[in-house]
Amino acid sequence: MQLPRIVACVVLGLRVCDAGVSSPAPTLKSAFAHAFRVGAALNPTQFFEENARAVQLITNQFNSISPENVLKWESVHPFPDQYNFVPSDHYVDFGRKYHMFIVGHNLVWHSQTPGWVFKSIFNFPVTREALLQRMHDHIMTVVGRYKGKIGGWDVVNEALNEDGTLRQTAWMQIIGPDYLVKAYQWAHEADPKAQLYYNDFSMENPPKRAGGVALIKMLQAHGIHIAAVGMQGHYRMDWPSTNDVNDTINAFAALGVKVMITELDVYNQNPADPHSLSLPETAQQALAARYADLFKVFLHHQKTLTRITFWGVSDGDSWLNSDLPNFPLLFDRQYQPKPAYEAVMALGRASKAPPPPVRYKSDRNF
Ligand code: G3I
Repeated sequence: MQLPRIVACVVLGLRVCDAGVSSPAPTLKSAFAHAFRVGAALNPTQFFEENARAVQLITNQFNSISPENVLKWESVHPFPDQYNFVPSDHYVDFGRKYHMFIVGHNLVWHSQTPGWVFKSIFNFPVTREALLQRMHDHIMTVVGRYKGKIGGWDVVNEALNEDGTLRQTAWMQIIGPDYLVKAYQWAHEADPKAQLYYNDFSMENPPKRAGGVALIKMLQAHGIHIAAVGMQGHYRMDWPSTNDVNDTINAFAALGVKVMITELDVYNQNPADPHSLSLPETAQQALAARYADLFKVFLHHQKTLTRITFWGVSDGDSWLNSDLPNFPLLFDRQYQPKPAYEAVMALGRASKAPPPPVRYKSDRNF
């Protein structure tokens, strides 16, 4: 029995051209292919391929993946002499199987790092030299294991306070500010071809943005090649302004680095009933408008932005559900596209790759 063409196309994810020829329906990765990669942070159920619907959505829509938790120190290196590479190996294998750009997140952070890292015997603080050695060994082991497979690393994550000063983390207190320089030097040594990133949130606020700019300049002054700055993009409906997003991208681009939006979501609860697992149409449309405003800025900066990664695939996966249901992403709890997805896709389809520069025979470099 032959299915009517329109049913077959919906089921198979195809679109029918005028001539009756089928072509793949556009997805995030194809609609923005001329501009930047589009990625998602994955959890183990996804990269262990336990949920076929999620796998299909991820592989159709995204061309980059980030590990939500499995490459953080406490997951991958829980005890001094014990690494756990089972989940992270699956994560990397998943990315290679589906030909995706694979991100490493993260190497040096104050959070999700086990207490033993900063302790010596009898619970005394570890010495500077011993902590440098531990950081060195961790970076060489983890980055070295995925050399040539993980394309870029969030080397240091969230080193800044809101006022732009360096956070007084255990790394900072025990080693001093050169912990940053050492982390990037060793990551480069472990995989010279991997891109190295600095990743942080709220740099849209001018004081923290200034701190981010100073931090990148300091690393560059030490001869470190920062490929890109990751603006995490944990946004709200009313923060940050698109002007501040725009100004922040410009501030980093001026340093000669690329920029990525690395953990995008828009905090969004049901305003009428915060316990509800569904979102009213007005709130859906408001979220769609917010995402459209953000993607207009992103498209404007397509020469600077290399990747937009969502922090989760569907609303049900999001870290923002820890208290009450949240609706921050483009796909709902059934993995269906939301109005926000349609709004983003409309912009992607309408945007065009910038035309190649016109060259004349008289041009010197023709
Ligand atoms: O895996 C354990 C599980 O065994 C245990 O039963 C359960 C009980 O609470 O906890 C599980 O670990 C949780 C882990 O997520 C995995 O689900 C941790 O408690 C929880 O703290 C952890 O939260 C993560 C958070 O980082 C930790 O700081 C979120 O999933 C993750 O989305 C979030 O991601 C961060 C980025 O790495 C950096 N930028 C901010 C972003 C959002 O906070």
